[in-house]
Amino acid sequence: MLDKKTQVKHMFDAIAYRYDFLNHFLSAGVDVYWRKKALKLTKLNKDAVLLDVACGTGDFAIEAKKFGVQKIFGADFSFNMLRLFNKKSGWIIGRNLQMEAEKLPLKPSTVTNITVAFGVRNFYNIPEAFSSFHSALTENGKATILEFMMPTNSLFKILYRLYFKFILPVIGRIVSKDKKAYNYLPDSVEEFDKTIDLVKLFYNAGFKTVERYNLTFGLVQVVIAEK
Ligand SMILES: C[S@@+](CC[C@H](N)C(=O)[O-])C[C@H]1O[C@@H](n2cnc3c(N)ncnc32)[C@H](O)[C@@H]1O
Repeated sequence: MLDKKTQVKHMFDAIAYRYDFLNHFLSAGVDVYWRKKALKLTKLNKDAVLLDVACGTGDFAIEAKKFGVQKIFGADFSFNMLRLFNKKSGWIIGRNLQMEAEKLPLKPSTVTNITVAFGVRNFYNIPEAFSSFHSALTENGKATILEFMMPTNSLFKILYRLYFKFILPVIGRIVSKDKKAYNYLPDSVEEFDKTIDLVKLFYNAGFKTVERYNLTFGLVQVVIAEK
């Protein structure tokens, strides 16, 4: 049995070429709005030095570029996702490097912002990643997490389960040709929601303030932690 780190890395390397299409198709394009809204809530400043962790094919970093941010770096442990990011952005985004969220090889206090969209749920050690974020951020620097959650409204919960358990895995399997990847998504969201309290984990990692917002009837959450 492979450990979580190896399983997740293999999974994203395998589905990388279908990732963007499936992402926008399965969310009906709402994922674009979620990333934009998360950056607005962060009050992202154009002088920021931003590290987009679990950057994948780069949609969060590319959105940040539209906010006028010049210094943007991407970090991800999947080589294939990074390769697509570089191809897609034509290297307009700083440098994208193969790194683990849990072990960012950065000097202390080097970036003003860290962003993670739909990545934290996949980390093999969230407390370790948040400590690593805390060290890499400057004083008053912010970490912004965008992640799925289970909707709080009962009707939405039912619709969510129907969509995520029966529709999404079938489309995901056909398009990505990966049997497991799109079953993993609903299972990991439910498990994550039951067991992980991001706000508490940020405080434990030493952040001084943490804010949490629900978007689109509680389908996704934005958590912003300030050092
Ligand atoms: C669902 S994708 C999100 C990509 C992108 N942020 C977006 O908004 O579309 C999750 C990404 O997290 C990366 N990832 C998962 N765990 C990681 C870890 N521990 N360290 C670095 N990258 C990780 C995967 O390789 C994958 O590219």
